[in-house]
Formats: sequence, structure tokens, C-alpha cells
Amino acid sequence: MAHSPTSGGAPAKALRTTPFDDWLAEAAALRERRGLTRRLTESDGRRPLLDLASNDYLGLARHRAVIEGSVAATRRFGAGARASRLVSGTLSLHTWLEAALAEFTGFESALVFSTGYHANLAAVQSLVGTNTLVISDAHIHASMIDAVRLARGALQVVPHNDSEAVRLALANRHQPRAVVLAETIYSVLGDAAPIEDLAKLCDEYDALLIADEAHALGVVGPGGRGILASLDLTDRSNVVATGTLSKSFGSQGGLMLATARVREHVINTARPFIYDTGLAPAAAGGALAAIRVLESTPTLTDRAIANARVLAEACGTSVPAGAVLSVPMPSPESAVAAVEVARRNGLRIGCFRPPSTPDGVSRLRLTAHADHQRNQMTSAANVLAHLAC
Ligand SMILES: Cc1ncc(COP(=O)(O)O)c(C=O)c1O
Repeated sequence: MAHSPTSGGAPAKALRTTPFDDWLAEAAALRERRGLTRRLTESDGRRPLLDLASNDYLGLARHRAVIEGSVAATRRFGAGARASRLVSGTLSLHTWLEAALAEFTGFESALVFSTGYHANLAAVQSLVGTNTLVISDAHIHASMIDAVRLARGALQVVPHNDSEAVRLALANRHQPRAVVLAETIYSVLGDAAPIEDLAKLCDEYDALLIADEAHALGVVGPGGRGILASLDLTDRSNVVATGTLSKSFGSQGGLMLATARVREHVINTARPFIYDTGLAPAAAGGALAAIRVLESTPTLTDRAIANARVLAEACGTSVPAGAVLSVPMPSPESAVAAVEVARRNGLRIGCFRPPSTPDGVSRLRLTAHADHQRNQMTSAANVLAHLAC
């Protein structure tokens, strides 16, 4: 397969420009001036750099059993699910995966989606109505923000991890229903939400908590079962978890964990579920195998957490709640420069700049991985200690 090195598209053909190009050029120039241009950097799969940027926290994306699970599922069920779940796209593989997820986390039921993004869109759109106040943490993931727009509920954004602000919003609401949105471990900041407080508030004020466990599952809680499991919050109808199969589970796809009644409601009312093709067999088979690996190797979680401590010490930051480390930088330019220095020294680290950071602060984002060996961590720590972090 020969591809053009820049676009991967068809052979060059003279393009006709239109006034639309002027609009694009202006927007690009503005991004450039602000130091906010994003570029896709590809990896050839050979891992020349030590990965401290991806969300493959347990190293399962390349685990032999996970790859085999994915391949076996493709052979048995085909390359795609071929239809949306309610038409003919529900495979027994989806049912097995949903049963395994529910059993692993302790929830009554699970529902899988083609992405974690869809899981949030679906859960929020289905469980929020026009008569609902949505109270959202300021650092909530973009998929939740988009979900609230889709749901058309009233939105009140509260300061990050401020339980008192959530209480005030719940107490003063005019709407009959309320939904609180949080991430159990925040994707960019890497800190933990005060979930126990939020769940108590939801009980007190008759509200629903939707907690995104994307960065907690596999890493936090007993054997990686998540924060809701660790707090014994998996058996109540007013706590719903969402998450993704694309991080610790090393695959692709999204999930919701809830009571069977909530699941049934989402199946019947969530547009991002109803009008979307079912999760691809390769992704479902890989994720199912990943759950089995995690169940049989609970030490994976401990290894990821131990490596997170090494990174935190090297960067002089506090020990993170999970596998994500966040290092504030003085400017977008300095963040990009630090990423480049790390790259030249063999490390791939992430960087978040506005608009991905709601408070406008640029940050380095480093992730710990269970499959990084002690010598790799030692040399990574040496490089990081000399970065401007
Ligand atoms: C907190 C959170 N929720 C949801 C998602 C979306 O998951 P996916 O990448 O599977 O669509 C992400 C991924 O970036 C995330 O960080």
C-alpha cells in the first residue's frame, strides 16, 4: 500500500480553491499565532519512544491474549457488527462482554457502545430531560459537555471538585430532576473526584450521579474494579458509571454500568445507541480477553500505580490518584517545547493546551504503564527530572 507521506490520500490532483480556503487559512493563522496548532504524529507501531502518553495503562493493547481474543472474535463474528444493536447488530459476543463487565465491576448490568464518547452521549442524553438540571464539574470530559447539549437540559457548571457548590446547586434548583456529572479520575488533571460526597448529596437531594470511570477502571479500586466499586456504590439505581474499553482494557469502545432498569431505558431512548452500529467484534473480543487477563493478574494494577509514583517523584508532583500525572506549564509554547525535548530523549509524553484545558492552563500529561520495566522507568525519571517540569 503506497500512501502519500502527508495525507495518505489519492495521488495529487490540482485543487480548485474557493473563498472557503480563505476562511480556513485565517483560522489556521490564528491558531499558529496563539501556539495552539495541533498536529497528528503517527507511530509506525515499532515503539521507538517509551510511551508515557497513551492511555494503555496496563499495556494490554499489545498483550498476546488480548490480541488473540480480538483475532478470534473477528474470525468468528466478522470484521463488523453489520447493523445497529436493535436491528440485527447484537452479537452473543456483546452479551458475553456485558456480562463480564457487570460481574467484574459489581453492577447489575452493563451496556457496550462503539466508543466511550458514545457511552457518555447515550447515558446523559437518555437520563437527562428538559426538566432536569445538570450540574457538571468544570473539568468534565468533552464528551459529557457535548452530551449535555444533546440532552437539552439546563446546565450549571461548578468549580472543580467543589462538593459544596454541588450542594448549593442541588438545593436551589428549580427543576424537578437533577443529574450530577463527574469523572472519578479526571482525564487531564489526574485527580480523584469526591465521589462519596457526591453520592451522598445525590441521595439527599434525590438526584442521579453519572460518573465517568474511563481513567479509573483497571487502575483504581480492588483489582482495578474502579472507584465506585471501592466505595460500594455499584448497587443503587441513582449511580450510573460510564467508561471506555480504549484505555486500561487496551481495546476500543465504550461502556455503561447501571441497574438493569436503567440499561433498558438507555436501550430504548438513547439516540447514540439506537442509531449507531454495534461495537466491532475485534474490539469486543479484545476487551473481553483484557478483562480475563486483569482478573487473573491483579498485580497489573499495582505495577501501574508503582510506576506512577516513580514519575511523580521525577517530576516533583504529588502522587496521583491513578495513572495520570498532570504538570502545569507556564505557556502552550513551553509545554510543546518540553514534549519535544522528551521526544529527543526517547520519551513520548502528552501535552494539553487550551481549548482542551477549561482553565486555560497548558499542561504536560504523563501516564504510567504496568508494562514499563524498572530500567525504563529509571532512565525516564532521569530525563523528566531535567525537563522544565
Ligand atoms: C474521561 C473520558 N471519557 C470518555 C472518553 C471517550 O472515550 P473513547 O476514546 O473510547 O471514545 C475519554 C477519552 O478520551 C475520556 O478521557
